[in-house]
Amino acid sequence: MLSVRGQLRVPGDKSISHRSLILAALAEGESDIRGISDAADIRATVTVLRSLGVALPALSTSMRVEGVGLRGLTSPRGALDCGNSGTTARLIAGVVAACDFSARFVGDESLSRRPMKRIAEPLTAMRARFEFEGGDGLPFIVHGGDLKSATWNTGGSSAQVKGAILLAGLVAGVDVRVHEKSLSRDHTERLLRSMGADIRVDRENHVSLHPTARLSPLTIDVPADPSSAAFFVALASLADESELVLSDVCLNSTRTGFLRAMHGMGAIISREDAKTCNGDEVGSLRVLPGILTGIAITEAEVPALIDELPLLACVAAGAGVDLEISGAEELRAKESDRIKTVVSNLIAIGARAEERKDGLRVWGPRRELHGTIDPAGDHRIAMAFGIVGALPGNRIKIESPACVSVSYPTFWNDLKRVVGYCAGSDGCSS
Ligand code: S3P
Repeated sequence: MLSVRGQLRVPGDKSISHRSLILAALAEGESDIRGISDAADIRATVTVLRSLGVALPALSTSMRVEGVGLRGLTSPRGALDCGNSGTTARLIAGVVAACDFSARFVGDESLSRRPMKRIAEPLTAMRARFEFEGGDGLPFIVHGGDLKSATWNTGGSSAQVKGAILLAGLVAGVDVRVHEKSLSRDHTERLLRSMGADIRVDRENHVSLHPTARLSPLTIDVPADPSSAAFFVALASLADESELVLSDVCLNSTRTGFLRAMHGMGAIISREDAKTCNGDEVGSLRVLPGILTGIAITEAEVPALIDELPLLACVAAGAGVDLEISGAEELRAKESDRIKTVVSNLIAIGARAEERKDGLRVWGPRRELHGTIDPAGDHRIAMAFGIVGALPGNRIKIESPACVSVSYPTFWNDLKRVVGYCAGSDGCSS
C-alpha cells in the first residue's frame, strides 16, 4: 500500500536557470534572479560564465548578476568546463561564436560523446570557426569573429540549437531566423522578449531576432522544473492513496507533454493558482491516484516530453500497461543512450520491454519488479527507476544514485519525505 501526501516545490527550472544566468550576464545593469536551480548543470554554467569574465557570486537560489553587456565578455584563460551539461556547452558556444576571441570547450565523458556538429553547422554558416579535436563531440575550440546573419532550418526540434543561433545573432548584432519542424521549448525567446530584444514569432515554428543595442536587466522568479515535478506526478498517480500538490510549476505548453500523456493514460491531475511569470504560465498541480491505461507517443508529441520519456516508460512498467514510443531517436543522444538504458534496465528488473530504432515498447501485465539498476550515470534514468522502486512490491537498488545531482540534488530526500522510502544508499543524507 503506497500513500503519497503533502506539498512539494521541486527546484527551479533548469532550462530557465541556464538562460537567466547567461542573459543576465549579457545585459547592462543588475539582474535579480530568484529560485535558481542548484543543480550541477547550473553550476557548470556559472563556472563557464565566470571564466568569460562575468563577476558571478557562488551559485545560490537567489543571485544578483551584474551584466557585462553584449560585447563585454573576455577571453578565458583555460578551457571552459561544461561538466555534464549539453545546454551549457551548446548555448555558450553560440555566445562565444560572436566574440572576438577563441575558447576551448571540454566536458565529462558523457557530454564528450554527445553530438555538437548540430550547433557547429549553423554557427559556421554564420562565419564562426570550429575545430573539433575528435569526432562530433567535445573537446572543440570555437574561434569567434564577425558573424553574418543567417536563416537556418534545424530540421528537427532542439531548443539548444535554436538557442545557440539566437544567442550568436544577439551578441553579433545580426539578424537571425530559425525554423524548426516543431516548436522546442521557447524560454530563450520569452526571456529575450522580457529583456527588450526585438524577437518575433513570424509563422508557426519560425522565430526571428533583429539586432538589439542592449539587453535590459532581468527580474525573475524561476518557476519549479516540470521535468523534476514529473517524477512526483508519476508517483502520486501510481499510488494507492494520494493527494500531492506540486507548487509553482512551469506550465509552458512546450514543457507539458508529460502531463498530456499522463492525462491520456487516465491520471487525475488538476491545475490551480494559475499565474504568469516572465511570459510563462505557472501553476500548482494537484495529483490523485489514477487507473492508468496504455498509450502511444508519436513524433509530433516528443519535443514537449523528451526528457520525461524514460519516466513514462517506467510509469507504464510500474502500472503494467502498454506504451509505444516512436519518432524519438533523439533519446539516443542524451546523457546516455536513453532508449538502451531504459529498456535494458526494465528487462533487468523483470519488466517486458523492447528497443526500437526510434523508440521503445513496454507492455503488461503488472508484475513485481526486482533487481539492480545501472543508470549509466544518467540522472533522469536514476530518478525514473527511483519511482518504480517506491511502488509496493518492487525491490530495486540503484547504482550510483548520487548522479541525480546533475538536475535535482535533493531528489532522494524529497522522495523519502513524501513516501518514507529511499532507493539510493549514498543518495540519502537523512
Ligand atoms: C534543453 C533542451 C532539450 C532538453 C534538455 C534541455 C534546453 O535538449 O532535452 O534537457 O534547456 O535547451 P535539445 O534542445 O537537444 O532537444
